[in-house]
Order: sequence, then structure tokens, then C-alpha cells
Amino acid sequence: MKYLVTAALPYANNLPHVGNVAGSHLPADIFHRFLKIFGYESYFVGGTDEHGSPIEVAAFKQGITPKELCDKYYVLHKKIYDFLKISYDIFSRTSNQTNHQITKEIFKKLLERGYIIEREIDMSYCENDKRFLPDRWVEGICPYCKYEKARGDQCENCGRLLDPIELIEPKCVICGSKVVFKKTKHLFFNLPKFAKKLEKWLSKKKYWKENVLNYSLGFLKEGLKERAITRDLSWGIKVPLEGYENKVFYVWFDAPIGYISFSKELFEKIGKPELYEYFWIKKKGRIYHFIGKDNIVFHTIWWPAILMGANLALPYNVGGMEYLNFENRKISKSQNWGVFFEVDQDKISVKIKDKSYEIEPDYIRFYLSLILPEKKDSNFVVKEFEEKINSILIGNISNFVYRVLSFINKNFEGEIPSAKLSEEEKKILKEIKKMKKEIKEKVLNLEFKRALEKIIELSTLGNKYFQENEPWKADEEKKKRVLMFSANLVKDLAILLWPFIPNFSEKVFDMLDIEKFFFGSFKRVGKIELKNKKLKYLEIIFKPLKLE
Ligand code: MF3
Ligand code: ZN
Repeated sequence: MKYLVTAALPYANNLPHVGNVAGSHLPADIFHRFLKIFGYESYFVGGTDEHGSPIEVAAFKQGITPKELCDKYYVLHKKIYDFLKISYDIFSRTSNQTNHQITKEIFKKLLERGYIIEREIDMSYCENDKRFLPDRWVEGICPYCKYEKARGDQCENCGRLLDPIELIEPKCVICGSKVVFKKTKHLFFNLPKFAKKLEKWLSKKKYWKENVLNYSLGFLKEGLKERAITRDLSWGIKVPLEGYENKVFYVWFDAPIGYISFSKELFEKIGKPELYEYFWIKKKGRIYHFIGKDNIVFHTIWWPAILMGANLALPYNVGGMEYLNFENRKISKSQNWGVFFEVDQDKISVKIKDKSYEIEPDYIRFYLSLILPEKKDSNFVVKEFEEKINSILIGNISNFVYRVLSFINKNFEGEIPSAKLSEEEKKILKEIKKMKKEIKEKVLNLEFKRALEKIIELSTLGNKYFQENEPWKADEEKKKRVLMFSANLVKDLAILLWPFIPNFSEKVFDMLDIEKFFFGSFKRVGKIELKNKKLKYLEIIFKPLKLE
């Protein structure tokens, strides 16, 4: 079984914050890395989402072309994910030729099969600006929840997808004048036609996360509507149909198709083009999408319907996250409320509220892993960030590593000793075996927080074992036994923590002088592999985190 892992494609008009990282890139990366240490073939694709009205709006505001805007942001996004060690096998762009081509192909297939309808509709139009307005350029009151700043495409408050015409008192976002509706032709995807099929498909997804499944089923129950897949914009993928020369595809039509195009680009790049067929056409692999809460229905209803219509592989699972807040409030870039990333050439700094810091990417990954909004909304709290890093990552995990390795340095001239195990160690090894099973189960269930908690327990166990056995007081034989065993525990922790804090793990592997090769390494956990082996060097890995 081969795996294809994706993270939501971020819009190329702003930079990601910790909420975006915790909402898709990080969980996707953790999952992909775990699959690798389990010894599974996994591919991780991502890229920027470059079309749609938000991009046009941002470019318009900055006085540059959408293409220039995307070129700039693509690079910035990539640098930030590299810094965070998000291990994309490919990080591509929806404006690439491959995506243009595949989007057109899929559209033609849907058209042939009768899933596309042409309708003359009333489009939002601003008489003052003399233009049709993209859905997002219209704001008004949500007809469902009465939220006052609902956008024409979706209400941020209740999450429902909207059409601008449904809004109460719609206004032009550019100039604030009242929006009128003018007739123009558009193409619609016949989503209601897939209601039965979607229901049947979702009913078999008992293994999905509850939040994702319930949200999707609830959405389905409310009834599906046909949705326009064309827009009156100039930036985007051209619609290959007569009469549509001045229109482009709706961004939510071509963006998820990016998952297909990017994987195709990747498979060609690595010389395995047949994998494209394997995943998408023959439907043999397992596809996992990791996304934030506001993207859930797009990935569990809209996108699967398009895939069904084009007879392509459906996602095996959708790892939908809830929201991550900052200090109990919604993250907001304009209000400087949250944790952001700043790029200066090749240096990335982390901005917390309005102060910039240089922070180890592992610190961010570790804390975010502890607070992933897997089942409900969670909260980034600065004090807690500091506290968890200093007490758990440094005080527990890193301390164990340093204590063990420095003891070996001082007492055994840097060589991991060899000894016979006693009943106590054998018991711990049994415990580890049980833990491994649990960790794997949790990971495959997309419960990464629980998996991390288990691994921290193992580190606590290691500290306790070392402390209670007091090797500094023990006779030579016991000293050897405790240190050999502890050094192997260090190796186990390094393997298990690799999906969460890869820099740490790779450093430990380097100090232990073992090759930084993590594929299939899960089976090495709980094995006494290291004995009569010299350490390469020893360094303190982490400095305490101090924030103002
Ligand atoms: N750009 C969208 C967002 O940031 C996510 C697109 S995900 C994809 O909300 F499926 F369309 F690729
Ligand atoms: Zn206007």
C-alpha cells in the first residue's frame, strides 16, 4: 500500500501563521514522517493556491499583477515550510501548466458526462466600479446566522457556503456602494446529482475523525446546491468553451486539482510516472488530505463529487482540524494577534504579537504538536509555550539524552558499553512493545497528540529508570547495563520523535554516529542495537526558551 499525503494549499497572498501550520502543514508532515518510519512508501505534496479573487484583490491593492504577487509569495511560503522542516516532496503552484492542463481535462470529462449545467445568472455588479464583482468582493448579512460581515462565498461565522445573492444588504467591498445583480452566463457543477453517492460513501467512513464526519453529514443533510465553477475574472485558468473566453474557473475548482497535478509533477520528476495512474486512475493507494476547519466541506463533499464525476480516486481520509486561537482570541494578522513568520533573505524569525525572536523550529513544532486542534479548538498561550518547552522538551527529553550520553563520556570514554539485561530492562522492553502498538494505532487514527503523549511517557520512564538505578553508585557491571540500556532508549526516543522534532532526532542520531536514515526505523525501537559503539560527539541540543 502506498500513501499520498497532502496539506491544504495556502493562498499566495499572505504568509502562514501558527494556526495554518497547526491546521494542515504540520499534521500532514507528522503523518507523512510516521508513515516513513513505519516503512511505508509515502509521498507528500503541497503548493500555493494562486488563483481566485483574494489574489486579485491583494495584487490590485499592491499595484502589481497577480502573477508578480504569486511569484513573490510562493518563495516566501517555501522558505517558511523549509525552515519548519515540513518535508514536502514537492511544493508546487496551481498556476503551473500541469494544473491548467489537468483542470481543463477534468472539466471536459465532467461536461461530457453531463455534470455541467449552463445558467444565466444574476451576478454581483458594482455600478460605481463598472465591473462584475467576485463573490469575495461582496459583503453582507448572512441569511443563516445573521453575522454582519459574511462574504459572498462563505460565512466565516457559521461556515456555510454562500452565493452573494443570498446575502442580506450586499455591499461592494472596494467602494462600499450597494451591489446590483446583472445577467451573465456561467457554468455550474451539478453537485446535487452526487448527494446519494456522497451519502453512501460517507456512511462507510466510520473510521474518520468525528468532527469531520459529523460536520460533513450535517452539511449533506441540509441539501446540496448547484455551484458555479466559472468567474468573471481575468487571472485564472481559462474555460475551454465557446462563449467563455472572458471567464476563468472558480478557484475551488482548480485548487484541489492541484493535488493531482502536483503529484503528477512529482512522479515524473522522480522517474516514477506510473504512480500517477496507481493513485488517481487505478485508485490503488491511500490519499490523505490534511486541512483546516473552514476547508472541511470542500474536501469531504465538493472535491469528492468532482472526483466521482471524473472517475478519479477519492480520499481515504480527511484530517480536518479545528481552529487554533492565540491567547483565547482568533489569530489576526492585521491586529498583530498571533504568532507569525518573517522572512529576511534566508533568515526566518518568529514574531509573537509585536516582537521578533529567533526560535528553534523544533520548539514551534513541539509545542504545536502538543496543542494540535485535533478534536476541538485549541489555544496558543505564550507562557505555556515557554513552560512546555523548558519543562518537557528540555527538562525531560533533552535532559535524558544529555545525562545518558555525558555519563558514557565520563565513565566509558565515550563508548556505549555492552552488558547482559536484567529482568527490569526486559520488563521495560515489553512495555515499549505495547507502547509501540498504541503509538501506531493513534497515528493511523490521526491522533497525533496522543501519540506524542505516549512518547513523552517513554522519556519519563527513561529518566525514572536512570534515576532509580543510580549508575553513579553502582558496580561496574550494573553501570554498563544501565548505560547500554539507556543509550538504546535514547535511540528509541530519537526515532519516535522524528515526526515531531526532526532536527532534534537527526542531531541525536549524529551524536550516536548512526546514519540519518529513518525509513522503516520504527522496528528498531525497543531493540538493543547499540553496544560497544563510540559516540561521535556530545553537545547540549537545546537552550532554555526565554520570551519577554
Ligand atoms: N487556499 C485555500 C485556503 O487557504 C485552501 C485550498 S486547499 C485545496 O483556504 F484543496 F484547494 F487545494
Ligand atoms: Zn464598488
